[in-house]
Amino acid sequence: MSCCFAHLQTIHRLDDLVQPSMNSENKEKFDFSTVGAPVSEPHPVSEPHPLKEIPALEGSVAWEAPSNIALIKYWGKYGQQMPANPSISFSLKACVSQTKVHFKPQAGGGVQFSLSGQQNLGFQTRIEKFLNSVELRYPWLKEYALDIESTNSFPHSSGIASSASGFAALALCVEHIDQYVRLTAEQGRAAHHPEPTAYRADPRFLNRASHLARLGSGSACRSVYGGWVQWGMHPATPESRNEYAIAHQSAIHPVFTDYRDTILLIHKGVKQTGSTAGHKLMEGNPYADARYRQANERIPRLLSILASGDLTEFGLLVESEALTLHALMMASEPSFMLMMPNTLAAIREIQAFRKQNGVPVHYTLDAGANLHLLYPAQHETEVMSLINNSLMHYCENQAYICDSVGTGPRPINPFL
Ligand code: PMV
Repeated sequence: MSCCFAHLQTIHRLDDLVQPSMNSENKEKFDFSTVGAPVSEPHPVSEPHPLKEIPALEGSVAWEAPSNIALIKYWGKYGQQMPANPSISFSLKACVSQTKVHFKPQAGGGVQFSLSGQQNLGFQTRIEKFLNSVELRYPWLKEYALDIESTNSFPHSSGIASSASGFAALALCVEHIDQYVRLTAEQGRAAHHPEPTAYRADPRFLNRASHLARLGSGSACRSVYGGWVQWGMHPATPESRNEYAIAHQSAIHPVFTDYRDTILLIHKGVKQTGSTAGHKLMEGNPYADARYRQANERIPRLLSILASGDLTEFGLLVESEALTLHALMMASEPSFMLMMPNTLAAIREIQAFRKQNGVPVHYTLDAGANLHLLYPAQHETEVMSLINNSLMHYCENQAYICDSVGTGPRPINPFL
């Protein structure tokens, strides 16, 4: 059986679930410059952001956020989820999480979490820990009970990490509630709430959500934007920061704006070593400094490729990044290996196909055995025939996911 999950409707419509429980007749235009954090920087998530009085509010917010795939990889961190080197990714279109948060007054707070309609205590504990760690920044977390419902468009245990999309969607919900609570507290009455769609275009709102998402899972901070995204400071991008990611809105060649990513699900099982342990092992890796230098040198190189549309250069760079990531794993002590025999066999076929047909199809890997096939939209027919004729056989249950560069998160309809 082959399947292209992108065509399956696995997401439950959260719109049906969300009930506005505060009055919502007030959708007037809103001046974002009066909201929350200072104009230039998001309010640091690690610092207190007190509220004089926490209003007793009840309501729901819901956001969809994409997964992302890094082309220049983040591998190695320090401090509170700070990246040891800058990374560049694009956000996916089909692989998304949808998360709804219902909040209501409850002294001491409390979190309930369900994934695809089933309570999930493992994730609940992780989310509780994450939210406890940011209580100073979001003091209302101690006064509200949160009921969090999440679904993923991609199958559970497919080897596609849901932590990036999941934490990004949750961070967007938390920021959204924060805006509402602070506005209400300032005005002394239920706030006139801005159209949530306007948040998508408010860089400060997104920066703050990115900042928060980073604390849940590093690469999640890139998932609060669409298109091409950078996380980590680099002089080539003066606005870049280690605390949060930024979107690259200009200087992207049209070929890269709807680039295809077909994900071959080579191995869906539990990984031998997770990314938290993997990042940690970089601390003793003898190649770490050289790697961090290399990643920094590669940022301007990728940015200039993204502007020029040079696909040959693109392929050379992204394939080397993928194998470097896995070489670092193999050079760790203890060493570990996440590629599987079928990963290598499929890579060989991709190389042979490219040589024979001149089609610019390249691969990248994240921290797992699955291969991401990257190619321009105009070559979809040839690449799909390569997949159906041969690559599919290297996939567990012959499964793959058809994806491409996406436009980023969106609020899911009704609100507070
Ligand atoms: O965000 P984490 O801790 O799951 O780490 C992600 C690491 C890679 O996927 C391998 C690379 C990246 O930049 O996304």
